[in-house]
Amino acid sequence: MDFIDNLVAKRFGDLSFFSTSSRLYKFEKIKKVTNETRIRRPDITLIDMGVGEPDKGADKVLCDILNIESRRPENRFYADNGILEFQEAACKYLKKMYNLTGITVDNVMHGIGSKSILAMLPLAFINPGDVCLMTVPGYPILGTYSKFCGGEVYNLPLCPENDFFPNLDSIPEDILKRAKLLYLNYPNNPTGQVASKAFYEYVINFAKKNNIFIVSDLAYGPLVYDGYKPLSIMSIDGSMDVCVELHSLSKAFNMTGWRLAFIVGSKKMIKLFSTVKGHTDSGQFRAIQKAGAYALENPQLINENCERYSRRFNMLVEALREVGFNAKKPKSGFYVYVPIPIGVKNGVRFNDAEEASLYILSNALISTVPWDDCGSFLRFSTTFEANTIEDELYIINELKDRLTSLNLEF
Ligand SMILES: Cc1ncc(COP(=O)(O)O)c(C=O)c1O
Repeated sequence: MDFIDNLVAKRFGDLSFFSTSSRLYKFEKIKKVTNETRIRRPDITLIDMGVGEPDKGADKVLCDILNIESRRPENRFYADNGILEFQEAACKYLKKMYNLTGITVDNVMHGIGSKSILAMLPLAFINPGDVCLMTVPGYPILGTYSKFCGGEVYNLPLCPENDFFPNLDSIPEDILKRAKLLYLNYPNNPTGQVASKAFYEYVINFAKKNNIFIVSDLAYGPLVYDGYKPLSIMSIDGSMDVCVELHSLSKAFNMTGWRLAFIVGSKKMIKLFSTVKGHTDSGQFRAIQKAGAYALENPQLINENCERYSRRFNMLVEALREVGFNAKKPKSGFYVYVPIPIGVKNGVRFNDAEEASLYILSNALISTVPWDDCGSFLRFSTTFEANTIEDELYIINELKDRLTSLNLEF
């Protein structure tokens, strides 16, 4: 223990949080094996199917707005809890995209990305000993910050046997009594599952019965394929009392680095959130919010992403199926989530997804993300780098050839 270690807050326990946690370790290992393989095999290029963000930048029209608005003196101030124009645009977007009626500017508030909204919500709810129910595998931020607040995380595995929905009936009584927050993320990262109206009704009843507040993360909401209509939990009767929902501009509008999202909920909830937020940040740059407002008023900008991902899903799923993976095109999102092969014909066996992923990486220079929370799965992303349809086809054919040459056994 040195000078700084002695001063670090107790919430970080034995300080292992600052070294290689298992989640970070997974990505560290992937990075290391990628670098080693690149040196060993300079003849082949990396096929990166592990990326979790769009391969394209924001539309030119949004960049032009940012350019113009960033020069306007009236935009230079702290934005605090946001600009009205963005909130009004969010209301229109919710009507257009999810058919949500009756939403006013009092029901929405911007955030510097969904990640920072997820980080702030536990501050408003979690006391030491309270429980945050988190679906796993998944995006961990709400749970991480619940722990920072002295709370506990209870994991709800998303297993193929349950169609990648949490089994809320399995939660022990003691946990239910202490649970305050439930995190949901549909369309789901990484499983690709989408929620039905019936599922949302069931969860809202559960939340009311057990006094649990739902945080629904719709980061991938508008990326939909083959006629599937995006669904918001806020469209379900009674949701306003027990839910908030997060909408991100990162994936839908390719604005990941711009850091812009919004939360929708009851007037009371938004006031609560705005108070915590007001003490935490001073709002996103107004010029970014203005570009964001334009984006939300023009959701047709998302269509190009949907077309590109849909086309890539068709190619990727077909290629993976030909190799032997049990791959299905999801209705939404940008991930294909497949069970791992058991090993290589007459060769190695994979004990878990991490082993399978690292084997594929070091022998075929194809990067995937492994998940071992409930069963062993690999996540392939349709956001791989490719400029033209010809490039996409080339990459998918190359992926198929490399995977075929591995002689994987399923
Ligand atoms: C499920 C989920 N929620 C939220 C985020 C972060 O979104 P934002 O860029 O708005 O912070 C991600 C990013 O990968 C995600 O996968």
